Amino acid sequence: MKVLMLNGSTRKNGNTRAVLDQMVEILSAQGLETEIFWVGNEPIRDCTGCGTCKKTRNNTCVFKDDYINDLIAKCQAADGFVFGTPVYYSHPSGALLSVLNRMYYAGGNVLRGKPGCSFAVARRGGTSLALQVLNQYFLYNEMPLVSGSYWAMLHGARPEEVFQDVEGMQTIRNMTRNLAHVMKSLKLAGENGLEKPENEYGARTNFIR
Ligand SMILES: Cc1cc2nc3c(=O)[nH]c(=O)nc-3n(C[C@H](O)[C@H](O)[C@H](O)COP(=O)(O)O)c2cc1C
Repeated sequence: MKVLMLNGSTRKNGNTRAVLDQMVEILSAQGLETEIFWVGNEPIRDCTGCGTCKKTRNNTCVFKDDYINDLIAKCQAADGFVFGTPVYYSHPSGALLSVLNRMYYAGGNVLRGKPGCSFAVARRGGTSLALQVLNQYFLYNEMPLVSGSYWAMLHGARPEEVFQDVEGMQTIRNMTRNLAHVMKSLKLAGENGLEKPENEYGARTNFIR
């Protein structure tokens, strides 16, 4: 089983990465594979809403000049997810939001039903809002949202200052163990014949009448 972890910071080796590294240690000790995917610090296109992916329905974004389609393929191979972000003006990084918007719009079906968790790192404020935004990606898509023993928010500015946030790191360790437990539980359930619910799709009401 594999966990795909998004580093949503434009700083490759900052606090977000430090938290992810801690999570990797715990997940590896639990026998899970991990991969950290960095969103990078180059411009990344947001979803243009062109709707091509809704016509082709092949889990592919029409824009093939960046890594989004590779990332969707990684999502297909993953069994669980971690989205980590720094707080930028009280919300997740713009780069991470652009990535998630395209990843979910074109490839949401390959993520559906798989569990995940998120965390936000800030110097001082805005973590609640950033977390709320990140968690929507799980909540709209039948993805069990895993929590820790408190809010998954951490404080730090310079790289690795986050380790001084003792309670924040404790919460992250617990959230990571909970993610491993949920992933293993779902696998066991499937192996023992528990089928996923037969849900209904297709109704779309735009509230214009
Ligand atoms: C563009 C930008 C906006 C930021 N906005 C906030 C903010 O609203 N609140 C806050 O507490 N910290 C803010 N910060 C600080 C970062 O959240 C903080 O330094 C965090 O640890 C960075 O994570 P990283 O080391 O993974 O890049 C901002 C930093 C940048 C670069």
